[in-house]
Amino acid sequence: PQAPEGLELPQAGDPGLVLLRRVGVVDPSSLDDYRAHGGCAALRRAFALGPAGVIREVTDAGLVGRGGAAFPTGRKWQATAAQPDGPHYLVCNADESEPGTFKDRVVMEGDPYALVEAMTIAAYATGAHHGYLYLRGEYPRALARMTHAVEQARARGLLGDDVLGQGFAFDIEIRRGAGAYICGEETALFNSIEGYRGEPRSKPPFPVEKGLFGKPTAANNVETLVNVLPILTLGSEAYAAIGTGRSTGPKLFCVSGAVARPGVYELPFGATLGELLALAGTPNPLRAILLGGAAGGFVRPDELDIPLTFEGTREAGTTLGSGVVMAFDDALPLPRILLRIAQFFREESCGQCVPCRVGTVRQQEALHRIAEKRGIAAEDDIALLREVGRAMKDASICGLGQTAWNAIESAIDRLGAYAS
Ligand code: NAI
Ligand code: SF4
Repeated sequence: PQAPEGLELPQAGDPGLVLLRRVGVVDPSSLDDYRAHGGCAALRRAFALGPAGVIREVTDAGLVGRGGAAFPTGRKWQATAAQPDGPHYLVCNADESEPGTFKDRVVMEGDPYALVEAMTIAAYATGAHHGYLYLRGEYPRALARMTHAVEQARARGLLGDDVLGQGFAFDIEIRRGAGAYICGEETALFNSIEGYRGEPRSKPPFPVEKGLFGKPTAANNVETLVNVLPILTLGSEAYAAIGTGRSTGPKLFCVSGAVARPGVYELPFGATLGELLALAGTPNPLRAILLGGAAGGFVRPDELDIPLTFEGTREAGTTLGSGVVMAFDDALPLPRILLRIAQFFREESCGQCVPCRVGTVRQQEALHRIAEKRGIAAEDDIALLREVGRAMKDASICGLGQTAWNAIESAIDRLGAYAS
């Protein structure tokens, strides 16, 4: 697509791209092409640094998790590596099911060997010899490309008993999800791999201590892992110079909704919401923006100067989450959008704990009543929504129940939804 006047639209092969630099450029089926475009350089540097050196680089780079929770990756790896009793496991969470999130799919389809290389580095750093790639069931092309990449890597000595002749053993097993949102929650995902129902476990203990099969596990999102490649090839200092002091590096944003050019955009942290939307084609009229997906929150059209950083969105009272930016014009009434979000959480709740199992039903019922009254709420329904929302936030076992009220709360408080 053409860039709007005065703006530079990133294209495949754009030298400014870090994470997506090979996407649309390399042949995703060819390990040779991957190597010809800089592939495996990070793994070679990892072997030169040693496991502790890799963790130091990742920590100094300031990398935090890109799945949505922004936990420091170096701390997670250090805590996993420090556990005395193995075996240690590496789990790549590629279940990406947050509504509006599709960045990991683009990476896996366009640059699959990058994920194989990044998983190998993560395993080397944390002392894991077995890695699982838990892939969203609805991603058949990503499955085909990742399967091929893992097979080729194994055949060419990039995986197996002696990775790159360095005496390190590591292999990857791919597991497909079966369409349940909750299986993206890391402990439900472990249960799913182990053959149990996809129900979250209570944390702590955290996976770094007791994860997959009760063993120390580093669980990382796809985008988090592929950030390790530029950290090792550029060096932590140069990497940390990208973005802002507290949100370092590049970020993939998933822009969807009423924009003219929906898609995945790579920008350094720190660009504003307005700048990103302008790249994607700001809707006219712009009525609301959902940040962070269904688990995130709405912001108003007059808040486009919010910086797209973890700290900037937090200070603005919202969240960046996994990088979802969903823009709405006036094609759909807000009550219908909120009802759909509530229906999603009701359907995806695993039902294990009462606040979420009952709360998501009560929430949907109240929103349905409001929608029936043509979007105007009785005060007692709003009061009920607040009470149920607070209970879900405070008392649910996992992130699903804890965030099921976020978007609706933000629509009421920020957008003035349901005001007569
Ligand atoms: P969390 O804050 O519980 O944990 C984040 C990570 O840090 C986990 O790996 C956890 O094990 C680790 N961790 C936290 N405290 C720790 C400690 N003291 N020691 C060691 N490790 C520790 O968040 P959670 O539930 O993993 O993720 C919630 C986020 O996921 C939300 O922001 C939501 O937006 C996002 N999400 C993303 C989806 C996607 O498709 N990308 C889908 C659904 C939710
Ligand atoms: Fe299951 Fe919801 Fe409880 Fe999470 S909060 S464990 S999804 S019932």
